[in-house]
Amino acid sequence: MASAVKIAPSILSADFARLGAEIQAIEAAGADLIHVDVMDGHFVPNITIGPAVIKALRPHGKKPFDVHLMISPVDPYLEAFADAGADTLTVHPEAGPHVHRSLQQIRKLGKKAGVVLNPGTPIDEIDNLMDLVDLILIMTVNPGFGGQSFIESQLPKIEAARKRIDATGRDIALEVDGGITPQTAKRAIAAGATVLVAGTAVFQGGPSQYAANIAALRG
Ligand code: DX5
Ligand code: ZN
Repeated sequence: MASAVKIAPSILSADFARLGAEIQAIEAAGADLIHVDVMDGHFVPNITIGPAVIKALRPHGKKPFDVHLMISPVDPYLEAFADAGADTLTVHPEAGPHVHRSLQQIRKLGKKAGVVLNPGTPIDEIDNLMDLVDLILIMTVNPGFGGQSFIESQLPKIEAARKRIDATGRDIALEVDGGITPQTAKRAIAAGATVLVAGTAVFQGGPSQYAANIAALRG
C-alpha cells in the first residue's frame, strides 16, 4: 500500500513570488498532484488565490491540479475553476447550500469531483454522495492555514471513509490534508489514505530539499 500512495504538495507553503518555478521544482522532485488551496476570507479566515492565478500557473505543471475550494458560495465559481485548468474540484458540504448539486455540476463540467469534510463534520455526510465522488478528502486540521498540527481524532474517520469506499468497489481516492509529516503520514496511510496533501513538510528547507521531503512522506 505504501508504495501506491500519492503525494500532493500544497502550494500554499510555496514561495508565492515564484509559483510557476515552484510547481516545476516539486514535479521534478516527485510530486504526483498539485494541491491548490483556494480561500475566500469568508468560509475560512484567510484569502489565497483565484481562477486567474490557476490559469496562469497551469502551463507550468504537467501533473493534475487538485483544487480544494474553501469558498462560500462555491457554485457560481465552479465553471471558472474548471476553465482555469483544474482537474479535480473538491467542495465542502459545510460551505453549503447544496453539496449534491455542486458535485453534479463538477461532473457536468467534465472534471473529477471531490468532497471534503472539516474535522467537526461526521463521516455520515458522505453517505448520500458516494455515487458522485471521485475523491474523498478528510481534513486533519481546521481549514485556513498551513503549519497546523494533525488532529488525531480524525484517524477513525479516515478508517470509516476507507470502509465506505471499499463497499462501493469503485476506485475513489482517499486524501488527507493538514499536519502531514513523515510520522503522521504513516498513520494516515495505515488508516487507509491513498493521497497525502502536505505543505510545510514538502516546502521546508527550499528546493534542494523537495525530493528528500517528498520521499520521506512515502515512508
Ligand atoms: C489548510 C489547507 C492545507 C494546508 C496544509 O486549509 O487545506 O492544504 O495548506 O498545510 P500543512 O501541510 O502545512 O499542514
Ligand atoms: Zn487543502
